[in-house]
Amino acid sequence: MGAPLLEQELSLYDPALLLSLDFFRSPAKFNPRISAAVPGEPWLKVRPLQTGDFHRGFLQILSQLTKVGDVSLTQFLNRFAQMRASGDYYVTVIVDTRLDKIIGSATLVLERKFIHGCGTRGRLEDVVVDDTYRGKQLGKLIVVTVTLLADQLGCYKMSLDCKDKLIPFYTSIGYVLEPGNANTMNIRYEAGVGGAGVVSNRTAGHGNQPDDTEPS
Ligand SMILES: CC(C)(COP(=O)(O)OP(=O)(O)OC[C@H]1O[C@@H](n2cnc3c(N)ncnc32)[C@H](O)[C@@H]1OP(=O)(O)O)[C@@H](O)C(=O)NCCC(=O)NCCS
Repeated sequence: MGAPLLEQELSLYDPALLLSLDFFRSPAKFNPRISAAVPGEPWLKVRPLQTGDFHRGFLQILSQLTKVGDVSLTQFLNRFAQMRASGDYYVTVIVDTRLDKIIGSATLVLERKFIHGCGTRGRLEDVVVDDTYRGKQLGKLIVVTVTLLADQLGCYKMSLDCKDKLIPFYTSIGYVLEPGNANTMNIRYEAGVGGAGVVSNRTAGHGNQPDDTEPS
C-alpha cells in the first residue's frame, strides 16, 4: 500500500504538539520505554491524521473497530476539512513507514463547556491497533499520546467508553471507574440523521455485542 503523491498533504493539527509530550507524566508502564517522539522502531511514526491517509488504509483500520461504511475520498476529505476547521479534533495515527500504512489510531475530541469556567473536556474515541501489530505496546502508545495531548491542551478531564474487558487496559494507563459515576447510556437513532422518527433503544457498553467490534 502507498499514498499517491498529493500536491499538498494537510495535517489535521500541528505535528509539533506531539514532540513535547512528557511520557514520564503518564502512569502507563512501557518496557522498553517508548514515546510519541521516539516510538521504539525507526519505521514507526506517530503523527496527526493527514489527507493522504485515505490511501494509507486509515478507514480499513477503523473497520477493525466498528462498521465504517462505504466512505468515498470526497466524503473523507470533506469530513477532514470540517474537523480541521473546528480545531477540536485530534485524530492521531501510528504509521508503519516501511509500508506507508496506518497501523493504529486514536482520537481526542475537545468538548467545549460553559461549566468549569468555560472549561474543556477531552473525549477519547476510536482507539484501534491493526490486529497484526497488537501486543507490542502500540495501543498504550497511542492512548497515552492523546491523553497527554488533552492535558497539554488544557482539558480538565478526559473520558472514554469501553467494553468491560478493556477496563484493565485503560486502568493501566491511569483511567479510573469513578464510584457512582461510571455508566454509559445511549439512545441509538435508526438512520443516523435528524428527523428519521424511529428510535431504537438498546443497552450498550456491557460487553454484550455479537462480535468483537464496538457499536461506537
Ligand atoms: C485495545 C487495543 C487498541 C490494544 O492494542 P495493543 O497494541 O494490543 O495494546 P498494547 O500492546 O499496548 O497492550 C497494553 C496492555 O493492555 C492489555 N490488553 C491489550 N488488549 C487487550 C484486550 N483486548 N483485553 C484485555 N487486555 C488487553 C495487554 O495485555 C497489555 O498489558 P500489559 O501492559 O500488562 O502487557 C487493540 O486490541 C484493538 O485495536 N482492539 C480492537 C479495537 C478496540 O477494541 N478498541 C478499543 C475500543 S474502546
